[in-house]
Amino acid sequence: MAQSLESIPNNVDLSSDRRLQRALEQWQPNFLAWWNQVGPEGFQAHQVYLRTAISVEAGGWAHFDFVRMPDYRWGIFLEPKDGERKIGFGDVMGEPAWEEVPGEHRNSLRRIIVTQADTEPASVEQQRLLGKTCPSMYDLRNLFQVNVEEGRHLWAMVYLLHRHFGRDGREEADELLNRRSGSPDKPRILNCFNEPIDEWLSFFFFAMFTDRDGKYQLSALAQSGFDPLARTTRFMLTEEAHHLFVGEMGVDRVVQRCAELMAQGKDPRKEGAVPLELLQKYCNFWFTLSLDLFGGEISSNAADFFAAGLKGRFREETLDEHKALGETYKLEVPQDGKIVEQEVPLRNAMNEVLRDEYVKDCQRAVDRWNKTLEKAGVTGMKLRLPNRRFHRAVGPCAGFKFNPDGQLISEQEWAANESRWLPTAEDREYVKSLMHPVIATGQMANWIAPPGKGINAMPVNFEYVKPPIV
Ligand SMILES: [Fe+2]
Ligand SMILES: [Fe+2]
Repeated sequence: MAQSLESIPNNVDLSSDRRLQRALEQWQPNFLAWWNQVGPEGFQAHQVYLRTAISVEAGGWAHFDFVRMPDYRWGIFLEPKDGERKIGFGDVMGEPAWEEVPGEHRNSLRRIIVTQADTEPASVEQQRLLGKTCPSMYDLRNLFQVNVEEGRHLWAMVYLLHRHFGRDGREEADELLNRRSGSPDKPRILNCFNEPIDEWLSFFFFAMFTDRDGKYQLSALAQSGFDPLARTTRFMLTEEAHHLFVGEMGVDRVVQRCAELMAQGKDPRKEGAVPLELLQKYCNFWFTLSLDLFGGEISSNAADFFAAGLKGRFREETLDEHKALGETYKLEVPQDGKIVEQEVPLRNAMNEVLRDEYVKDCQRAVDRWNKTLEKAGVTGMKLRLPNRRFHRAVGPCAGFKFNPDGQLISEQEWAANESRWLPTAEDREYVKSLMHPVIATGQMANWIAPPGKGINAMPVNFEYVKPPIV
């Protein structure tokens, strides 16, 4: 239930635990200082039409209204307890889910939570300058919605750290505000979250591919035997769906604009839009960076997490079998200059199993973009996902070179083609050169098509962001 008068909105009965409440109230000003320092630049005094989580009830959790971002009510919401939940997989399958952290899994769970938590503020930092070059007021609002919700996801994880991990948890929560995306001395934990996102094309691809990795990680954690983690991530997933929409449809609208020009026989580049080959390069880049986030193809850690009931599979409950014992998984790895098939115990391939689901979902989105091309009248040209061996920095393919078809190639061949496959400095400069703020109500930058509809049944040309009240 929303307890809207409390300083920290929550449905975890925070006021019954004074110590915890005080600890979080001490963390709160540090969070706000972080937000003001490295959150969205500019617009902090603007009134933004935002959705705020006020409870977790299906259909009634999202409240839309104009708020100043620093006044956003970041809260702690866990999906309500569903009776006596039993763990649904691994060696502990059938045992009651844990309300407290089991001593033997304390380090692993803390690591899992901190790694997830770190991505939330990181992405806010990465995106902090984008407001200045928004393609429309509609997009500006969506960016800020994503940003405030990543802030809420940080709150969700910090609650778990404070509530369940004692002093170490409090220290980790402080560290989450001390690391900085892209910092040479205190970078964010995962590589992808240190990449700058200083133009909107990268933002849309990031929300499409990198936030989507988040969806799969959160879905695996939604199965966790540690019930508070499972219930937190379930609610985070409902918010995350909008971020994925922003990414997938953002790219779709850039594709649409490019396709419209191509269908008229025009060169998108000459018209100040994004040409298809550049979209393909950005797709190659962000897809592969995001593939790395799933971890190595063969992983004893992943096997241990599954066995221990810490991290399950995507929609584990829909599978026939939940122990993953006595089964194997075949994957292709480079060995002695060629690709060979390797068969590993299924549990050791859990990262790859999750990646499989992710790739399927990404392919579905690429199919949508290709339909958009086709509908606009562009035939014979398509976007595609590169093979998952291409451009990897994690797992057995790291350290080898592959082309986008997944064939092992020489360093020379890579060097000769890299600029055709991945964005070059000039490509990035070109994309940046397109970024000019378009903020008047109902207007849209020239490089992107308008969305099909607005937010929360409002028209596309609604005034989503209003100037500060003076
Ligand atoms: Fe998030
Ligand atoms: Fe997200």
